Amino acid sequence: MEDTFDAYCISRADGRVSADFATLRVADLDPGEVLVRVAYASINFKDALAATGKAPIIRRFPCIGGIDASGVVERSDSPRFKPGDKVIVHSHGFGVSHHGGYAGMARVPAEWVNRIPDGMDALEAITIGVAGYTAALAVELMEHNGLAPSRGKVLVNGASGGVASIAIDMLSQRGFHVVAATRKMQEKDYLLGLGAAEVVDASTLTVGTRPLESALWQGAVDSLGGDALAGLTRTMQRDGVIASLGNAMDIHFSTTVMPFILRGVRLIGVNSDNEPPLREHLWQRMGSDLRPRHLARIAQVKPFDQLPTLMQEVVGGRIKGRTVIAVAPDVA
Ligand SMILES: NC(=O)c1ccc[n+]([C@@H]2O[C@H](COP(=O)([O-])OP(=O)(O)OC[C@H]3O[C@@H](n4cnc5c(N)ncnc54)[C@H](OP(=O)(O)O)[C@@H]3O)[C@@H](O)[C@H]2O)c1
Repeated sequence: MEDTFDAYCISRADGRVSADFATLRVADLDPGEVLVRVAYASINFKDALAATGKAPIIRRFPCIGGIDASGVVERSDSPRFKPGDKVIVHSHGFGVSHHGGYAGMARVPAEWVNRIPDGMDALEAITIGVAGYTAALAVELMEHNGLAPSRGKVLVNGASGGVASIAIDMLSQRGFHVVAATRKMQEKDYLLGLGAAEVVDASTLTVGTRPLESALWQGAVDSLGGDALAGLTRTMQRDGVIASLGNAMDIHFSTTVMPFILRGVRLIGVNSDNEPPLREHLWQRMGSDLRPRHLARIAQVKPFDQLPTLMQEVVGGRIKGRTVIAVAPDVA
């Protein structure tokens, strides 16, 4: 086994965060039961905030970035995995407080690893990644709270983003009427191609300022927070369900209790840091009834050495779909 590999490391000096490539060895990695040869990683919004220092994401410097990766097990001290298994790694401390996926090798606790579902390859698995996992969790939680195709429209905002693209794909294939709200109307055809029934310009969404406005949505997948989330609370139907999973616009939002006490609106938090039973359940669903149909359209596959430029694009919200990084595609 070749011991050295390239890694994209995030460092801090004099209070300034920066990121660059370095050559590392397996011995430099953090402890863990499973050593994975990485084929693909991706750039999530959180990765871009971390690498550009725009938000205090990294908890331990230096840290290899990358909060998800797919590849092949090289060594395992866990009975759950054996060499050659095709796996996906994400969530918990990966790429935040423990070296992440922007490297030829990743060594992690077995709880952070899932087997890639049968019939899915490493590229499809990373296209789903932590973004698709979060979308699947949102759909599952919303369905547990009464979401049903017959009850009305579901809004997905930040629609051209990673989580939203996969949420649109999953919801539309389950028969929901999905309304995609985006700032990028030039991506209308892309969003219709994922299964959205309507595409609306986010700036034209009428949300008003009264505690309760016209009831438009039975469900909403919110990647944005801020005024977008506040507007959703005012425009949900009776017993409508909002999955709050992101903060691309703002971490704060302001609303009243009226939607909750007069319309029974349910605001559900979505956190992708889950233990193995739920992770296995959702990855199984993503290989079967929640399997996205348009992964090839969603994946924007880029070379490893373009990471620094791409970080700026993602943090500026100028991307669409999932930005996949080909670290060493031949290993899977
Ligand atoms: N809860 C969890 O466990 C979890 C897991 C994964 C991700 N997340 C969060 O979910 C959110 C989405 O993640 P992602 O990886 O899908 O991000 P992403 O690919 O960068 O997509 C975010 C989308 O939001 C819109 N957007 C970006 N900046 C905006 C702004 N300032 N104002 C309004 N809209 C803006 C853009 O869509 P349009 O241009 O189409 O409007 C952009 O494509 C992030 O906040 C991320 O941290 C949470």
